[in-house]
Amino acid sequence: MLIAGNWKMNKTRPEAVALAEEIVSGYGPVAGVDVAICPPAPCLDAVGAVVGNSGIKVGAQNVHAAEAGAYTGEVSAGMLRSVGCRYVIVGHSERRQYFGESDADVNAKARRTIEYGMVPIVCVGEHLEQRESGKAEDVVRAQVLGALDGITVGDPTGLVIAYEPVWAIGTGVTASPGQAQEMHAFIRQLLIGSLGDVGSGIDILYGGSMKPNNASELLSQGDVNGGLIGGASLDAASFAAIIAAAVDLA
Ligand code: 13P
Repeated sequence: MLIAGNWKMNKTRPEAVALAEEIVSGYGPVAGVDVAICPPAPCLDAVGAVVGNSGIKVGAQNVHAAEAGAYTGEVSAGMLRSVGCRYVIVGHSERRQYFGESDADVNAKARRTIEYGMVPIVCVGEHLEQRESGKAEDVVRAQVLGALDGITVGDPTGLVIAYEPVWAIGTGVTASPGQAQEMHAFIRQLLIGSLGDVGSGIDILYGGSMKPNNASELLSQGDVNGGLIGGASLDAASFAAIIAAAVDLA
């Protein structure tokens, strides 16, 4: 189980440090539940210093696929590794939608992340009209297989998938536990088909308006192995309550 907070483009460096301090002060590691926070890039090292050896891991929200070079404004996997990142979110729907990221881009980013010893959190999920027209599984299949093309994972902890239906992100509308489980089970089969047995142990997170009041029901589904939390991860008490829901189920 993994509970990861995606802070998106929120928090200056002092604000990020304050939020991280609040999260760390209420946190105690529990076997079976990993916790990560993903602040904006300029805050990664400062947040890393705050989490220290608390057990909470730090992740980035994006990475460039190239090793290094003339890519003004971009951040490489080596740079993220050097500031202590354990995870990198790749292919978030906001990056696909606003920055035109393709499945091939997501694949290249995931490969580079793995090459640098970090764990990609690969995001997939359909838009509302795709769900309403019965295409959700087709969309998610293409995203998962596109992201994993040519990737091999020796250990299930080396890769995380996040199913984030776009219609549930920041809307206050979550997928029902049944809808989430159905898609997660579908993704599980894709992972096993693509990666073999290791696919049965890969964490598949749910993301999209996960809050303290719905976390327990979502996390209790068999193939929902954690959450990728946006809005509720910006409030230490809400984030702690979601972690507590995961701990209760662990
Ligand atoms: P919300 O929890 O704010 O819906 O965001 C989900 C998300 O996009 C996490 O990556």
